[in-house]
Amino acid sequence: MQEISVTKNPNPKARPTDAKLGFGKIFTDHMFVMNYTTGQGWHDARIVPYGPISLSPASSCLHYGQTVFEGMKAYYGVDGTIRLFRPDENFKRLNSSNQRLAIPPVDEELCVEAVKKLVEIDKDWVPRWEGTSLYIRPFIVANDDFLGVKAADEYYFIIIISPSGAYYESGLAPVRIYVENQYVRAVRGGTGAAKTGGNYAASLLAQVEAHEQGYSQVLWLDGVERKYIEEVGAMNVFFVVDGQVITPALTGSILPGITRKSSIELLQAWGIPVKERRITAQELAEASDAGKLEEAFGTGTAAVVSPIGELKWGDKVMNIGGGKIGLITQRLYDAMTGIQYGRIPDEHHWTVEVCKG
Ligand code: PLP
Ligand code: COI
Repeated sequence: MQEISVTKNPNPKARPTDAKLGFGKIFTDHMFVMNYTTGQGWHDARIVPYGPISLSPASSCLHYGQTVFEGMKAYYGVDGTIRLFRPDENFKRLNSSNQRLAIPPVDEELCVEAVKKLVEIDKDWVPRWEGTSLYIRPFIVANDDFLGVKAADEYYFIIIISPSGAYYESGLAPVRIYVENQYVRAVRGGTGAAKTGGNYAASLLAQVEAHEQGYSQVLWLDGVERKYIEEVGAMNVFFVVDGQVITPALTGSILPGITRKSSIELLQAWGIPVKERRITAQELAEASDAGKLEEAFGTGTAAVVSPIGELKWGDKVMNIGGGKIGLITQRLYDAMTGIQYGRIPDEHHWTVEVCKG
């Protein structure tokens, strides 16, 4: 494995208080950088002071969107230990995204090492307040000095880290979600299952319009028939219908979320089966009319486990849970955050210790 060199920041910044973090607005003193050059592979793994990078203005990440990214977190545990949650899964997924975007694969072990080393160097930045964490954003961008449309020969792999609070300003209060039936995010065979910038660019207009109507995010329908539920802007979705937990199957156009996978594994370990299948918006509307749409929630690294209190689909408004978080949603939230913050034993061996805080 490559050595990671370290250049300390000579001008460390003052840390903000945990009460004022928001999501993804503040960055620490250091970042990890590594370069790729065809013929040489990934090289020059280094931790350097956080700051601007130099990119060719012709780079295909700027013009054609050859980019991938990941999202993970470090948690300050109740025992003062800083932990990561399933970082190996993030880098496995990064490599699947790389494969789809014709970006060369990274060494997953080196990436986990890089995250651990970076977090340890900036460990004073890991926030300690309830519900806060250090958000970790690894990403890769193409950097060729060439305007032709082709997979690049040069890339940057960078990891930046950001002390963060809740993703939604409302915290654990149920969110209102707009079921989008005009725009689509992804189609099977496209890039929907990869974590790549273009998917998010394609989602922005729908999000702006949903915000204008008072909704926090969009719930996407499938791009072909526009009737099957896919996922929310930054979360996978689950529903409890008539006592059964259901979630859209991974059909190739939605992100295979790590919180989704962990939620399914937890529920199954509790003897609560989860059906992964196709779910129509119509089915949810009918369940809502029959009083059987008991819970809805989203799962994601940034959003954790977020209750959904309202779905709007065309003229239909589905109110869920009477403004309160459901029992299964609460149990999952407590278990997931319990493991992440070291409050309960990590029976699944999901967490990776970084250091003492
Ligand atoms: N779906 C989308 C589109 C996302 O951006 C995210 C966030 O990462 C998720 C789902 C949830 O994935 P994970 O649980 O791995 O964070
Ligand atoms: C995450 O949950 O890590 C995400 O990437 C969501 C988002 C901020 C795009």
